[in-house]
Amino acid sequence: MRDVFQEAALKHLRLKNRLVRSATQDPFGAADGSVTAGQLELYRSISAGGTGMVISGHVCVSPEGRASQAQNCFYDDSFIPGQRAVASVLRENGSISVLQISHAGGSVAPWPGHDAGLIGPSDGVYVKGGGAVRAMDEEDMERVRRDFAAAARRAAAAGFDAVQLHLAHNYLLSEFLNPCVNRRTDSYGADAEGRFRFPGEVLSAVRGAVGPDYPVFVKINCNCEENDGAFAEDFMYYMRELDKFGLEGIEISGFDFTPLGRAGRRNYYLQRASQAAAAISTPVFAVGGIRTREDMRRALGAGMELVSVSRPFICEPDLCAKLAADEDYSPKCTSCSKCFYLYGREGRRCIFHPLPEQKS
Ligand SMILES: Cc1cc2nc3c(=O)[nH]c(=O)nc-3n(C[C@H](O)[C@H](O)[C@H](O)COP(=O)(O)O)c2cc1C
Ligand code: SF4
Repeated sequence: MRDVFQEAALKHLRLKNRLVRSATQDPFGAADGSVTAGQLELYRSISAGGTGMVISGHVCVSPEGRASQAQNCFYDDSFIPGQRAVASVLRENGSISVLQISHAGGSVAPWPGHDAGLIGPSDGVYVKGGGAVRAMDEEDMERVRRDFAAAARRAAAAGFDAVQLHLAHNYLLSEFLNPCVNRRTDSYGADAEGRFRFPGEVLSAVRGAVGPDYPVFVKINCNCEENDGAFAEDFMYYMRELDKFGLEGIEISGFDFTPLGRAGRRNYYLQRASQAAAAISTPVFAVGGIRTREDMRRALGAGMELVSVSRPFICEPDLCAKLAADEDYSPKCTSCSKCFYLYGREGRRCIFHPLPEQKS
C-alpha cells in the first residue's frame, strides 16, 4: 500500500516523498512583481521541513493577467534571477521545484494599478464589484498563448524542475472550461470540445516552448457552480484530452476550494479525482481538505499518486517534518480561510501567527 513517506516516481521526476505543497500565493511579493527575501525564507522553511515537492504561488504571465499587487510576475526575463533563487532554495533542501503560471482573466477583483482591462471567454461582469470583461478575439488568444509559452520557457531557464499551468479556480483558462462563464458559440465554446480548445492550444504552445521532456503539470477544477452533474461529464472529457499531452501529473481542485474546508469536509475532490485517475494514464493527485496521515492514506488508497496540501503549510511551514515524526500529528489549520484577508488587511499569514508588531 502506498504511503506518503515513500518515494514517488513520475514520468521524469523522482520525489523523496509524496507530500506536495500545493500552489499558494503569499503576501510577501514586491509591488514590482519581484521575489523578496521574505519569500525566499518562506520557501526555505517549507522545503527544510522535508516536503517532497513545492509548487510556487501562481505567477502571472502578463501584466493584464496579474491577480493582485502582491503577486509575483514572470512576464519578462528580468524576473528570472529572483525566481532562480526560489528554485535554488528548494533544490538545496531536496524538494522538487514547480513554478505555477497563470493568467487571472476576468475574475480579478479591482486593485490599484490593474488598468489593462479584463479579458475572458465572453463579455460580462464575472465577480461582484468587478469590471466589465471583454470577450477575447483571435489576437488576444495568440498573445496569451505566446505569454504562457514564454513564461514556461523562463521557468525552465530559472532552473525549476517543472512548470504547472493554472487551469483551475476561475482564472482565465478555467473560465474557458466553465460553461457558466464561457458562453461562446464559436469553435472556442458551445460544447466541451470547444471549451477545451483554447486551454489545449495554450498547453500545446507551452509544450512547443519547453520541448517534449520538460515536466509540465496542470491544476484543474473537477466541479462547477451550476449544473454540476453535466459538468462531471465535461470534466472527464477534459481529463481524457489532457491525458494526450504527456503531462507529469494533473492536480484536481474545484471552484469551491476553500468553503468546503470551512464546512469541515475532508478530501473533498477525491471521488471525482479517483474516477478520473482510473480512466487515464497520467498521474493524478487531489488537493482540498487533506490534513492528517489518515486523510493521506485515503487519498493514496483511492489511486492518487501524491497528496497535495495548501493551508496547513501557511499555518505550519514545517508540517512535513511534524507528520513524519508523529503518525498521529493533527495539523493546527482549522480551514477557516481567514488567511485570505489576513494577508492584505493585517499583514500576517494565519490566525495562529502573531501580528507583526507583537513579534519580539
Ligand atoms: C491564501 C491562499 C492562496 C492560494 N493561492 C493559490 C495559488 O496561487 N494557486 C493555486 O492554484 N491555488 C491557490 N490556493 C488554493 C490552494 O492551493 C488549495 O487548492 C486550496 O486551499 C485547498 O487546499 P487545502 O484544503 O489544502 O488548503 C490558495 C489558497 C489560499 C488559502
Ligand atoms: S488562517 Fe485559518 S485556514 Fe488559513 S492557515 Fe490559518 S488556520 Fe488555516
